Amino acid sequence: MTPLPIRTMEQFKDVLYAFRLPGLLATALELDVFTHMGKRVWTPKVLARALEANDRAVEILLRNLHTVGLLFKQGAAYGVGPLGRTYLNRNSPDYQGAYLDLIVQQWQSWAQLKTVIRDPKPIENSDPASRRSFTWAMHQRSLKPAREVAAQLNLKNVTSLLDVGGGPGTYALEFLRKHPKLHAGIWDRADALDVAQQIAEPLRHGARLSCHAGDLFNDPVPGTFDVMWVSNVVHMFSPVENRTLFYKLRRAIPPGGRILIQDTFLMNRPGFNVLETNLFAITMLLYSRAGNTYSAQEVQRWLTICGFRQPRCLQLKKGTGDWDGVIIEATRR
Ligand SMILES: C[S@@+](CC[C@H](N)C(=O)[O-])C[C@H]1O[C@@H](n2cnc3c(N)ncnc32)[C@H](O)[C@@H]1O
Repeated sequence: MTPLPIRTMEQFKDVLYAFRLPGLLATALELDVFTHMGKRVWTPKVLARALEANDRAVEILLRNLHTVGLLFKQGAAYGVGPLGRTYLNRNSPDYQGAYLDLIVQQWQSWAQLKTVIRDPKPIENSDPASRRSFTWAMHQRSLKPAREVAAQLNLKNVTSLLDVGGGPGTYALEFLRKHPKLHAGIWDRADALDVAQQIAEPLRHGARLSCHAGDLFNDPVPGTFDVMWVSNVVHMFSPVENRTLFYKLRRAIPPGGRILIQDTFLMNRPGFNVLETNLFAITMLLYSRAGNTYSAQEVQRWLTICGFRQPRCLQLKKGTGDWDGVIIEATRR
């Protein structure tokens, strides 16, 4: 990728034209090329027939997928390389389908950015099937960071934790796996909890998970908990909504209990991915009514206003955790 900031016209053109590769990959996923090809090698002509597509177009598509390293070539035929076989083929146990679908969907939504900038109305994806698919996507996205966070977060002597807007419960389940005395709840909408229950059911530690269907703003917090884990929730809401939520959560934490907030924060430090955090705010512009990304200082200030003390940033080991590995921790006053 072109180094930033953009200073020359050449760099500007490179960035502007960079949509070609995402366009290529998204199209290959939409045509389900990697599943169709499976473990066989294909000439473009035979694959074109299988995909009900045009010979010339498929030849150009395969040539490009070979150039970017996703296919190998054998004579005039092409086969799928190891990455495609493992993660991009629907028949593989490691297929990242829901998450890839979500990214492809976003690629289409970004094309509507001009309309949204003029008249911000979130793109609707709130029917039950979309919510379930989104929740599976969150699970696929969070599995690795959840293990890394659970390995580093201090939850010694914590007996109850609420995963607020916990969706698939990926984090709650990893905390339960690590801490045999812990009980955890997930508080989210019913459609998301359907997915969480499916994930938890075959797991032994899943028996210590409870699901609480409700709305974060219109329903009461489902009990009191030593720790409130709030991961990837703050960016969906406005500053006022976040303060309303923090205040409500505070009243459901016994004195000395904690709130832990994981998100993509704007950090005033070199090495932090400001670009990613800012671009994510655009995703929120497209999909949420009032979401945004916030600075860590701002979130810490809200926590103080809402009755928490000593807010501070915990930094996970480099390259681990979600986003830049920053978690804000504060104690209930
Ligand atoms: C971006 S996902 C984060 C999931 C999980 N915490 C993680 O970090 O992977 C946000 C979650 O908040 C839930 N959510 C959003 N608004 C909500 C509301 N008003 N009431 C209850 N849940 C809500 C969504 O259903 C979704 O599961």
